[in-house]
Amino acid sequence: MCGIIGYHGLEKTSDILYSSLLKMEYRGYDSCGIALFKNNKVSIYKNIGRVSKLVTNNPITFDSLIGIGHTRWASCGEVSLRNAHPLKSFNKQFTLVHNGVVENVEYLKEKYFHDVIFNTDTDSEVIICLIEKFYHEDLLKTIFQVCKLIEGSYSLIIIDENDPNNLYCAKNKAPLIIGKKGFSTYVASDIQALHDSPLIYHMEDLTFAKIGKDIIIKDQFFNDKDIFFMPNLIENEPIKMKDESYMLKEIYEQQEVIQRLKAKYLIHNEVTFQDNIKNLLQDFDEVFLIGCGTSYHACLIAEEFFNKLNIPSRSYVGSEASINNLLFSKKPLIIVISQSGETHDLIKTVDLLSNYKNRILLITNEKHSSLAFKLDHVLLMEAQKEVAVASTKTYLASYLLLYFIYLYIKKEPLKQELDILYHAIGNAQSIDYTHIVEMIIKAKKIMLMGRGIDYKVALEGSLKLKEISYLPTEAYLSGELKHGTMALMDEETIVIGLMSNVNTINLMKGNIEEIKSRKANVYLLGCDKICDVFCVDISMLSPLLLVVYMQLISYYTAKALGNNVDFPRNLAKSVTV
Ligand code: AGP
Repeated sequence: MCGIIGYHGLEKTSDILYSSLLKMEYRGYDSCGIALFKNNKVSIYKNIGRVSKLVTNNPITFDSLIGIGHTRWASCGEVSLRNAHPLKSFNKQFTLVHNGVVENVEYLKEKYFHDVIFNTDTDSEVIICLIEKFYHEDLLKTIFQVCKLIEGSYSLIIIDENDPNNLYCAKNKAPLIIGKKGFSTYVASDIQALHDSPLIYHMEDLTFAKIGKDIIIKDQFFNDKDIFFMPNLIENEPIKMKDESYMLKEIYEQQEVIQRLKAKYLIHNEVTFQDNIKNLLQDFDEVFLIGCGTSYHACLIAEEFFNKLNIPSRSYVGSEASINNLLFSKKPLIIVISQSGETHDLIKTVDLLSNYKNRILLITNEKHSSLAFKLDHVLLMEAQKEVAVASTKTYLASYLLLYFIYLYIKKEPLKQELDILYHAIGNAQSIDYTHIVEMIIKAKKIMLMGRGIDYKVALEGSLKLKEISYLPTEAYLSGELKHGTMALMDEETIVIGLMSNVNTINLMKGNIEEIKSRKANVYLLGCDKICDVFCVDISMLSPLLLVVYMQLISYYTAKALGNNVDFPRNLAKSVTV
């Protein structure tokens, strides 16, 4: 899930590439690089680590009409300089940046390069070496022919040392968008990397492009394809580091998200949606929810809501949904949740469900994303850009939109719950978390437990803590304690108990006694006076408030450990492989 950029134009190419890469770091940030023409040769500049280091270490003083760049999240081959893109073919004529996965890399190497030693461990190198192997006069046609051999996903930008005037591109199952502004043409994985181009063109799967003075697009049969640029309607959201990190800023912005969702989806306290979504919500017999990571945890919350409406529902993790045969009811409502709208497992699943396209409702934060592009029923999270890898405000937005769907189906107006939540989040922000952070850091085992919906938010709390603190944590159902997990309880364990559900508080109290008698440390968050942090009871929104507390606890723990909270190791904001 890397970010790629290509530029053709009269601006300073290196500056354009650097600033586009900075905007795409959320797609991966373990290494990066650019390639430019210098004295009729293609020169490559790359480094391990962040784009800012690449910029500082490589001030470019010459001009190049074209250039390409890449920011990497290692999926094939370790993080190293030689595996960082751009990559050259054996004889160095061709240079490539690639986003995607070549699934049949071993087969291709064996068939076409038996006994040849490659320069990198990447799957991408085989593409550029195949292009060199099969190259004939027409590079775009060669790329088209080579792409027929590739199984998997790719967006590619290639330059030819003998052709300093053109970029060559291919796209299949990984995003690639062309932007035009004046004499400049940009091509990138992300609309944000197109330097506010007023005109954009989303390349379709199995299409090929030659970008120079003119732009030529070829379809899957290598026939010419008309190109229609659309106006770029993306709002330029200023992203400012006014707080000490994006993550804290985004946790704090949750109050604003509540207000924006209210403004967009409520009229006189009644939930309302656009007509096509209203129609979809009127005619279904079962609900299927699909998401990954934090978005999957939001799906689990929806199960609780639909349960209260006596509507059967089931959640699937995206990576499982894309490999299993999903058994749908006659009239399913399929809800796909994805803040980025770019998650590969979800795109794959949606493609597999093409017969059900009209029954899919997408909840996303990115209206220009690949998923939003594919689907007609889209509910926007209105969370504005989320930069930190750990999702916070988009979880809150997903949760609230699912709650709105619940209210809409139940035909129930909103009461005071959002206002109470708004103030409770303010309180959560003002608490001193030093004590719990010290307990977590001292512990060898960190467990989060709850019952029912509290278990589902424990899963999210545990994910948040592990992804930025790197401490192993586990969430479990407290009723399951005595069936195995109790064996882990001792003085080196901390158990964070989540207790928003007033109906299960007595059962939880029993579990807490059992844990304490095994000498484990206990810290309780919830709506009972025995809790270390007492949270106001907001009925179906109380579990959401507990997640906000866990976001803050995770944040302060990661800070105390000296970790990069915004860009944790080994992760990326958008999981496009
Ligand atoms: C959340 O903190 C994680 N970074 C991750 O689990 C994320 O929620 C998951 O990759 C799904 O992303 P999406 O919502 O953009 O589809």
